[in-house]
Amino acid sequence: MPKFPYNPFDSSVGFGRKFIQWINNVLKDIGSDLKENKARVDNLIRNAPQPSEVVDLRVDADGVEHATAGDRITKDYDTLTSQYVYLTDTVDIQVKDINQKILESKRSFAFGYEFEHIAHRGFSGVAPESTIAAFIEAINAGFNSLETDVQISADGVPVCIHDDTVDRTTNGSGLVKAKTLSQLQSLDASKLKPYYSGAKIPTFEEYLEVCKGHCKYIYPEIKSYRSQNDISLIVDLIVKHGWETKCIIQSFRYDDLRIVRNLNPSITLGYLLGDLSTFNNALDKIKTDGNGIILSEYTFMLNNPSLVEVARKEGIDIAVWTVDSAEIIQRLKKIGITRVMSNYKNVGW
Ligand code: G3P
Ligand code: CA
Repeated sequence: MPKFPYNPFDSSVGFGRKFIQWINNVLKDIGSDLKENKARVDNLIRNAPQPSEVVDLRVDADGVEHATAGDRITKDYDTLTSQYVYLTDTVDIQVKDINQKILESKRSFAFGYEFEHIAHRGFSGVAPESTIAAFIEAINAGFNSLETDVQISADGVPVCIHDDTVDRTTNGSGLVKAKTLSQLQSLDASKLKPYYSGAKIPTFEEYLEVCKGHCKYIYPEIKSYRSQNDISLIVDLIVKHGWETKCIIQSFRYDDLRIVRNLNPSITLGYLLGDLSTFNNALDKIKTDGNGIILSEYTFMLNNPSLVEVARKEGIDIAVWTVDSAEIIQRLKKIGITRVMSNYKNVGW
């Protein structure tokens, strides 16, 4: 079997097209050889000398002596035919295998076959959620990706904070979107973890800088915003910092994701499930639009493991939030979930 001369995983050589061309050439070569050989064999059979005249024509390449030269040639022909069948079967298997790989790479930006542990709002179990301290602690603890919620300040700067107001997590009060960046950053964001006194609400750009060189993927979630332009501010920063092919931008509102897709098709869309009834809608949207994953609260999947299989069959991955138990992580792995968000991380998770 000739060897395919390209690396199947090197998309720069136009792998799909080259593979099909190559297969066609291999099949063409085999086909024409076979025809030529068949004509030659038929001719030899017709004019086969008698065994008494030329003995060596009765002996095949393996040294086996046949009753007649015609028998020997027929055996050669059978061998050739079985080689042809073998070759076409092999090619067929390879084509199926390659098609499956192409399908997977098209439908999903990448399956999380290796376990991906995503820090939910940073390492929010130990440091104040969505602060630089929480992001750095997450990286130090071995999380390989970071999730954060993003909102826009009154003066148009994307910042990392979950709630619409600053009340729960800082020493201030009021709506995030009503405050300028400097008002937001004058607050102490260590209210939930006072040990980190002086922690600030970070800008989204600061988050991107911390992630650089340390994260497999980033998972920003669009929370409240005023206009489409606010979403483009987030997208622009993702592009500016080179994250567009390693970014899963999440939202519970699928219209937000449509806006992102129109702004930049390279960014993976993360369809958050508000409840299980949105599963089919999310799946259909990803099947149609591509480059997306589903993000589910983990009990939805633990209680409905067949949904993981349904999504996988379509080449669509599922990540879950928020799991803080090693035992549950093991159960999730068993049903095929390999991307998990956690607030905590212990050795071996
Ligand atoms: O991004 C997954 C999860 O964070 C969604 O819920 O409320 O924690 O943002 P929430
Ligand atoms: Ca979130």
